[in-house]
Amino acid sequence: MFVVIMLQDKITQYTEEIKAFVPSSSADVENFRLKFLVSKGIVKNLFDEFKTVTPEEKRTLGKVLNEFKQLAENTFKEAQEKFGSGEKQKSQQMEGDLTLPGNGFQLGSRHPISLVRKEIVEIFKKLGFIVSEGPEIEDDWHNFSALNFPPEHPARDMQDTFFIKKQEGNDITLRTHTSSVQVRLMEAGKPPFRAIMPGRVYRNEAISARAHCFFHQVEGLYVDENVSFADLKQTLYHFVQEMYGEGTKVRFRPSYFPFTEPSAEMDISCTICKGAGCNLCKYSGWVEILGCGMVDPNVLENCGIDSKKYSGFAFGMGIERITNLKYVIKDLRLFSENDTRFLSQFETELI
Ligand code: DAH
Repeated sequence: MFVVIMLQDKITQYTEEIKAFVPSSSADVENFRLKFLVSKGIVKNLFDEFKTVTPEEKRTLGKVLNEFKQLAENTFKEAQEKFGSGEKQKSQQMEGDLTLPGNGFQLGSRHPISLVRKEIVEIFKKLGFIVSEGPEIEDDWHNFSALNFPPEHPARDMQDTFFIKKQEGNDITLRTHTSSVQVRLMEAGKPPFRAIMPGRVYRNEAISARAHCFFHQVEGLYVDENVSFADLKQTLYHFVQEMYGEGTKVRFRPSYFPFTEPSAEMDISCTICKGAGCNLCKYSGWVEILGCGMVDPNVLENCGIDSKKYSGFAFGMGIERITNLKYVIKDLRLFSENDTRFLSQFETELI
């Protein structure tokens, strides 16, 4: 008789406990399972105790005990559906062939534009150029006026420039070239200047294989006393030998930029056919890689530099163009599509 009362009390007590059980994590669910449902848990213990009572008592208590067991199991099942049980997750993790090799994790690779930008910067750093940067949102003064663009110059047209804010005499735009950084650099300091300025630029162009609305440039500037066109040629010749290999030929063609006088465009012997003529160089043997020239005295004066005392050269190149010639990538859109089948082909670098 004593046992029956004890058993009855225990069932009542534990029933209350289970009814009050509100799990707040999978750890709670697992503790519940360990307490009530494992082979040395409360449910099993109560059934063991049940075996010791008289047949008559069994009749009344059997039903109560079975209902208690149902309650414990259902409560666990519901809680498990809500949170999952630690035990179950563990057993799922352990399933399968443990002797199989683990899954390797994928390493990223540097973007080809970053690789080439880094390479360009390294070459010029060795010549004593520092790296300088400026904002992508620019005003008309730094992007155009200080660089000697006449007010009606076509590059200011809506077609080429993304305008952010029209304001009397000094519109706010996305910079169309990194030449704006030249101005910021010269305004902020005193000569000599020897800097390389990489960055992203924007133009209002329809996107195609050959044009994009944003791309990357590297600007170069060297201002000191007695800087000559010969210095410009030698510097760029050295760059080309480092970038594309000894023996790559260069040639300069006269050109026009508002901010340089004289101005030139520089071609190199085709990196694919070495000058013999191919699809890439349109059978001319030459490919254009950059614009350059002697900094126009007006630009120096606009930046507060005495153009009688100082002279300088500048150049600007598109990183996409330099990359295309190095890796023969014919469609500019590949650079911004983030397709890992394209990107993973480039050298993996961890630092
Ligand atoms: N800013 C020019 C462009 O975007 C490139 C350029 C040409 C930069 C000649 C220069 C230069 O510094 O001297 O097309």
